[in-house]
Amino acid sequence: MADYMSGFGNEFATEAVAGALPEGRNSPQRPAFGLYAEQFSGTAFTVARDHNRRSWLYRMRPSAMHPAFAPYDGNARLETAPIGHAPFSPNRLRWDPLTMPGEPKDWVDGLVTWAGNGAAECQNGIGIHLYAANRSMEGRAFFNADGELLIVPQQGTLHIVTEMGVLDVAPNEIAVLPRGLKFRVDLPDGEARGYICENYGAPFRLPDLGPIGSNGLANPRDFLTPVAAYEDSDEPVELIQKFAGALWAATLDHSPFDVVAWHGNSAPVKYDLANFNTIGTISFDHPDPSIFTVLTSPSASPGTANCDFAIFPPRWLVGEDTFRPPWFHRNIMSEFMGLVHGEYDAKAGGFAPGGASLHNCMNAHGPDTASTEAAMAADLAPQKIDGTMAFMFESCLPIRPTEYAMTGGLLQDDYDSCWDGFGKAQLP
Ligand SMILES: [Fe+2]
Repeated sequence: MADYMSGFGNEFATEAVAGALPEGRNSPQRPAFGLYAEQFSGTAFTVARDHNRRSWLYRMRPSAMHPAFAPYDGNARLETAPIGHAPFSPNRLRWDPLTMPGEPKDWVDGLVTWAGNGAAECQNGIGIHLYAANRSMEGRAFFNADGELLIVPQQGTLHIVTEMGVLDVAPNEIAVLPRGLKFRVDLPDGEARGYICENYGAPFRLPDLGPIGSNGLANPRDFLTPVAAYEDSDEPVELIQKFAGALWAATLDHSPFDVVAWHGNSAPVKYDLANFNTIGTISFDHPDPSIFTVLTSPSASPGTANCDFAIFPPRWLVGEDTFRPPWFHRNIMSEFMGLVHGEYDAKAGGFAPGGASLHNCMNAHGPDTASTEAAMAADLAPQKIDGTMAFMFESCLPIRPTEYAMTGGLLQDDYDSCWDGFGKAQLP
């Protein structure tokens, strides 16, 4: 059972044993109970205070106490940007859902990289991974030195045991795990499938709201961070890390989840997408899809996201004289989409829960022929889009699919045909 604290980027303070958290000094000469103080730094020390992230962990053993890491070759399908081997494609791409593995695979070994951009070693861009797993991470833990992980479960709850506490994350919820945080994923439902945005750039934050005001979209109080929880175990644990694109493993003689107390603002978080306050038109037309942004990772260029995480949740459509689905568009931003459940309102078929699509920079897309014709003919009464949750990882950099995404058998060969058959406009 997981217990949580509310807020996003708060200066949290939590202890699993009374008196474990020192008062006043981050690194006292002798922390309580012989605990060790360790700073967990999520941004450069000198990042502006508003965006600076760090936490102090009080643990039973220093993280530094481990043997050398050796290369780990248990997952050949996990890649890191710059993605090699496969060319960029200007084509609109769509994939069927990832199938469950035929043999037992845990969450780490069940990661399959689908696309990426930028370069992890330059700390820009994103990696996009899918996962399909059917075994809990028994005796194993993982951390990712290359980026923060935004996890979007599509099927099966994830019981995520982290150094800083425990998160239970179900479909229609998301989790964000800071770069470098050690964690383990258990599967209470036996199987799990979903999507991951690995963010090499600035940590995800809530977007500014501008004229929307001080409320709306994803509200800070709906983000949940776990209270401190620890394991006191001397059983061996295989600790796997991803560093500069390669996997490495070392065996610890104890559980790495031995943080008894912590305070700070770099912490794992989960969020129920049902709490998103969707904002849209109440007159005509509809706003740009940036109005659906849950979290943003800014690039160095103001207003231009290294990655936006946007959702298309249940909502009322009321616009008068309005083409209500997403319009046809060609954007400088590149868009990777997934579907947690239900149907996406711009596609009449072919985009299944667990599937994915990619629309790259400046390449035309929008509603398919059937959805367009239905929307142009519709009687515009108020309409509730319900029972759906699509999402988008949108990036200022073109997104390159992996060789496995292009040749692994899930790429649909007829996606372009969904835009076939539009009638020609008849001029006077
Ligand atoms: Fe789009």
